[in-house]
Amino acid sequence: MKFFIDTANLDQIREANDLGILDGVTTNPSLMAKEGIRGQDKILKHYVDICNIVSGDVSAEVIATDFDGIVREGEMLASLHPQIVVKVPMIKDGIKAIKYFSSKGIRTNCTLVFSAGQAILAAKAGATYLSPFLGRLDDISTDGLELIEQIVHIYRMYDFETQVLAASIRHSMHIVRCAELGADVVTCPLDPILGLLNHPLTDIGLAKFLADAKGSK
Ligand code: G3P
Repeated sequence: MKFFIDTANLDQIREANDLGILDGVTTNPSLMAKEGIRGQDKILKHYVDICNIVSGDVSAEVIATDFDGIVREGEMLASLHPQIVVKVPMIKDGIKAIKYFSSKGIRTNCTLVFSAGQAILAAKAGATYLSPFLGRLDDISTDGLELIEQIVHIYRMYDFETQVLAASIRHSMHIVRCAELGADVVTCPLDPILGLLNHPLTDIGLAKFLADAKGSK
């Protein structure tokens, strides 16, 4: 399973990358705004800065919602850096654009996915990645993990090449459950990644080892 970090914060991207376990980065317009990155020039430069920190895929989202606009913007984003994956919303023109990008060898991440039906359409269109938002489903009392399980099952049954990129991850157990369910990628903020490190018995055991090592000096 690949680990992506879901942020536009360069310090957090560096911290996750320094751990040696980072496979890529996902961003979205809200995450860019959160970091105060506004205006096209600054946003484009920020994508390149991220690509220069990590060695894996970096999702850059289009703002256009019509076919011609998505294609224009997506081609421009893809030309920025070979690591860029064009993030396209799950809408009618988005699906058409994903099909177009796939015929041109431009990699895509279909975002804002909340149902298995949407997942089937994106795979048929040739999306490289599919981003089901499991935390946002949990937020409305719907089991987000059930959707991940359903999509993984369908994709495996038909050998779809689209990778399931579980998004909107809220905590470390989401990551573990996605691994159990066979998600290809999880993208999450830094905290749930670091949360995987924690176990009280590790802390207690290490404190004892260190105390014993001191005593035997
Ligand atoms: O990658 C999608 C993700 O950014 C959405 O997460 O926490 O805003 O639901 P969240």
